[in-house]
Amino acid sequence: MILIIDFGSQFNQLIARRVREHQVYCQIIPPAMLTEAYIQDTRPEGIILSGGPSSIYGENSPKVDPAVFNSGLPVLGICYGLQFMVHALGGNVRRSEKREYGFAELMIADHGDLFAGIDQQTQCWMSHGDSITDLPEGFAVTASTANTRVAAVSCPERRLYGLQFHPEVEHTLKGRDILSNFLFTICGCRQSWTMKSFAEQAIEDIKKTVGDKKVILGLSGGVDSSVAALLIHKAIGRHLTCIYVDNGLMRKNESAVLKESLTRHLDMNIRFVDASDDFLGPLDGVTDPEKKRKIIGNVFIDVFDREAAKIEDAEFLGQGTLYPDIIESQSVFGGPSDVIKSHHNVGGLPENMKLKLIEPLKFLFKDEVRQLGLEIGLPEDLVWRQPFPGPGLGIRIIGPITRERLDVLREADAILLEEVKKSGYYKKLWQSFAVLLPIKSVGVMGDQRTYENTVVIRAVTSKDAMTADWAKLPYEVLGRISNRIINEVNGVNRVTYDITSKPPGTIEWE
Ligand code: XMP
Repeated sequence: MILIIDFGSQFNQLIARRVREHQVYCQIIPPAMLTEAYIQDTRPEGIILSGGPSSIYGENSPKVDPAVFNSGLPVLGICYGLQFMVHALGGNVRRSEKREYGFAELMIADHGDLFAGIDQQTQCWMSHGDSITDLPEGFAVTASTANTRVAAVSCPERRLYGLQFHPEVEHTLKGRDILSNFLFTICGCRQSWTMKSFAEQAIEDIKKTVGDKKVILGLSGGVDSSVAALLIHKAIGRHLTCIYVDNGLMRKNESAVLKESLTRHLDMNIRFVDASDDFLGPLDGVTDPEKKRKIIGNVFIDVFDREAAKIEDAEFLGQGTLYPDIIESQSVFGGPSDVIKSHHNVGGLPENMKLKLIEPLKFLFKDEVRQLGLEIGLPEDLVWRQPFPGPGLGIRIIGPITRERLDVLREADAILLEEVKKSGYYKKLWQSFAVLLPIKSVGVMGDQRTYENTVVIRAVTSKDAMTADWAKLPYEVLGRISNRIINEVNGVNRVTYDITSKPPGTIEWE
């Protein structure tokens, strides 16, 4: 296991991903958490100090206790992490207002440990302001670029290493090999981080934590809550009750699919609650997107609360929280003993529930959750689901939501998904869905004039939903979707394709 100290770099999660790709477990922690006690507790094989936007001369620049450099553990400083190490150990860092940013040719001077097996010249990627001018005692320069004499350093006797460039980004061509040298040659890590071993351990942990108590879990049908549910189910069986709230804003056959795959095939204990009246009543006539979201969120809490209260002796609440959520809120200290807090997975639950949290996925990234799902036998259809927003079709019907309009959208959406899946594009797209507009237009069908609704096809590619591009779906696929929607869905006579990227658009229309 490797500890990654978060000095604020936008690439931190990428460092963690790279380490885990080598099947080595790692955690990202804030600098203040790196204490001797924490090291004793977690027994890491090595430490990576991340980059960050600060200058070591900045007023609030992040720091770790320099004792870490004498702990005997291997330390790899990246960018700011390297500058911090050099400064802390008596070297010199020159302040610079100018940033060096982009590709550089790295010339390697020492092919010992960190650069073993790597070509003498290779492309690396730089992003730094300050530069190192003098090294601490015992350190030597191991690589340079034309602009940066000190591009890499090492002090093998103390097992301290540093890189001024970013090995974690794709632009550093041998970045993976450099990290591999650090993990295996220098730190002596083993490749033991697999989803199989994770699942076994997690199931044991859940058994121990929960004992013979009961757990409830809000199942949305998304991959995170489904994997969390199945993992907990494997640990405690019917002591887990999942609550699936049908808010009336779900896609076609949503409940049926879950019933079939989770209840029938996997024997999970799921309560299906038809609460469409609870939601559609208060939504009547509401057109403002944020009002819709608020109503849906609040009603969800009421319904979930009502249903949860029916389950006697529940002591725990299971959630599918992922590692990026934890890193972002820096609540790494969280554990099963935390009292329930508001969380987007369940739309925020009442403070007074006083349930303890079980978050078995809280150290996993999304792609690891998918691997885990496959490992523990979740059907592929559920594992590869595209994200679906909590407010569901409610924010894909522009204007007032009615049962009739929901039915129209559901049918159009189902056709769209069916065709996207048939075309082989489903997994390649971040999301693909239909939107129903409050606009009617004139058409002609047979010999009849029509005056009906407009459906928009939205399909985007994205890595994390922060930015997205409209998908270049083949015309034939778009054509089939359009034809089928107009022919098969009553009330639609026009289909358009949304070619807006994000930014400036958003993925959803509301
Ligand atoms: P936007 O529309 O902001 O969406 O580009 C980014 C991602 O977030 C999803 N989304 C939501 N998810 N509740 C959710 O649970 C919401 O209110 C909500 N709004 C947007 C959207 O589907 C996309 O994946």
